[in-house]
Amino acid sequence: MTFLRILSAILLSALISAPVIAAPDLANGKIIDQQKCYACHAKKTGFGNGDMIYTRSDGKVKSRADLKKMVGLCNTELRLDLFPEDEADVTAFLNQQFYKFKP
Ligand code: HEC
Repeated sequence: MTFLRILSAILLSALISAPVIAAPDLANGKIIDQQKCYACHAKKTGFGNGDMIYTRSDGKVKSRADLKKMVGLCNTELRLDLFPEDEADVTAFLNQQFYKFKP
């Protein structure tokens, strides 16, 4: 199954020259969070822990749509220059790790 998915992803990206919207890459999302997001969130919450902003009880994110919007906001407002695929990956990672919204 996995092999078929990978194979079809490769075939698809070979066929279409534009970037393919593939399944989100959670490992990539985690790296992005650690490299681009964690330090600032750690500073902002004052706890020295960049994960706490995602789990705070008065968090702003109440749905998957909110999460997507917030990631987009942090990305564009702060000019982090993430590609749309990276944004999707980090959103998927944060949802899997912290928010756990249903698709
Ligand atoms: C320069 C600082 C900074 C950087 C870098 C940053 N953020 Fe944020 N982020 C914030 C601040 C400040 C808030 C709180 C905003 C508020 O409460 O209105 C926030 C809030 C969030 C929230 C909402 C948390 C919640 O549940 O309430 C998400 C999701 C988020 N950021 C994602 C990201 C992602 C993903 C990245 C990296 C790609 C990122 N941010 C990079 C400053 C930053």
